[in-house]
Amino acid sequence: MSSTQTETVTETVSPLAKFSTPKDLVDFSGMTFGDWRDEFHKNGCVVFKGVITPEKAQYYREKQLKWLHNFELGFDENDESTWTAEHLPVSFKGGMYFAYGSPHESMAWEARTEPAVMEIFEKLWGTKELLSSFDGMNISLPRRKDLEWSPWPHCDQNPAREGMQAVQGLLNYAPNGPKDGGLMLMKGSAKLFEEFFSTPREFYAHEDAPPPEMKYMDLFLFSPSDLKWFEDRSCEMIKVDMEPGDFVLWDSRTMHYACLPEGNQIRHVQYICMTPKKFVTEDQLKLKQDCFNKWIGTTHWPHCNIRPAAEPPMRNGKVCPKNRTEPFEKPELTKDVLRLAGVEAY
Ligand SMILES: [Fe+2]
Repeated sequence: MSSTQTETVTETVSPLAKFSTPKDLVDFSGMTFGDWRDEFHKNGCVVFKGVITPEKAQYYREKQLKWLHNFELGFDENDESTWTAEHLPVSFKGGMYFAYGSPHESMAWEARTEPAVMEIFEKLWGTKELLSSFDGMNISLPRRKDLEWSPWPHCDQNPAREGMQAVQGLLNYAPNGPKDGGLMLMKGSAKLFEEFFSTPREFYAHEDAPPPEMKYMDLFLFSPSDLKWFEDRSCEMIKVDMEPGDFVLWDSRTMHYACLPEGNQIRHVQYICMTPKKFVTEDQLKLKQDCFNKWIGTTHWPHCNIRPAAEPPMRNGKVCPKNRTEPFEKPELTKDVLRLAGVEAY
């Protein structure tokens, strides 16, 4: 990211404006559908088996490995001694990639526009007119010796927002069992979001907590006693085990975090979120279009909280010499891509 690009991609609305309730927000409570949506609205999460074939999942795994090789930092998936930060592009939480134009790599847009993936979001929201997040991917190497890690249970919707305003999903590419790290979810916690936050709550001072000025973010970090509050109300922290090609969807109010893998398997995931286009404001849409045109990633949120990931990745206190401002492989600009990116009308 050049400094000029950073300057031109800025927020045009006040932070508080973000918390207005979107037009046409649906309250799903009390509704029944006779399909997976019932489980989703009850538990705040649902797993879909075989959304893409195992062969397609392998294709995406290979694409992700190729992406790591493209940086020419000496990474070799067959040589564990290279599974360290110096041989990898800069990531967040030991494997989440948001920089280097990665949210706009062809493989990311191919995954977002997989017909079965789009169908999930279309059915959930009851509309085909959706926006996609410009979200990252996760490539986590097991048994990293250079990483310190502790669980960081959080939710990705600000307590000031009413109702279910966003959902999150991930398309899983590699076998993912109990020892392979992955997604932890507090089943049932989304439904208790309002009740929990009806009492003033302290943002937990986790070592990775964002600075206080970031209070307008859609993030809340839970303390161990908060976890107990949910467990006392029959919620259960579960590890989502998945096979290649499975997809998991969760309500952004659900408490969750990602575990690092401890077994032998590399974790390969693409985060994918979609919400109705009618939720977006003109200002946020413009900002989103600007991000797309400059290959910049944002957050899990497709229609608001468009915080451009415009800061360059930092390595040892300096901008990573491998920083780049466009994908290695640009996406084919299909109608689906352009519409989901918000740059073409439905
Ligand atoms: Fe999250």
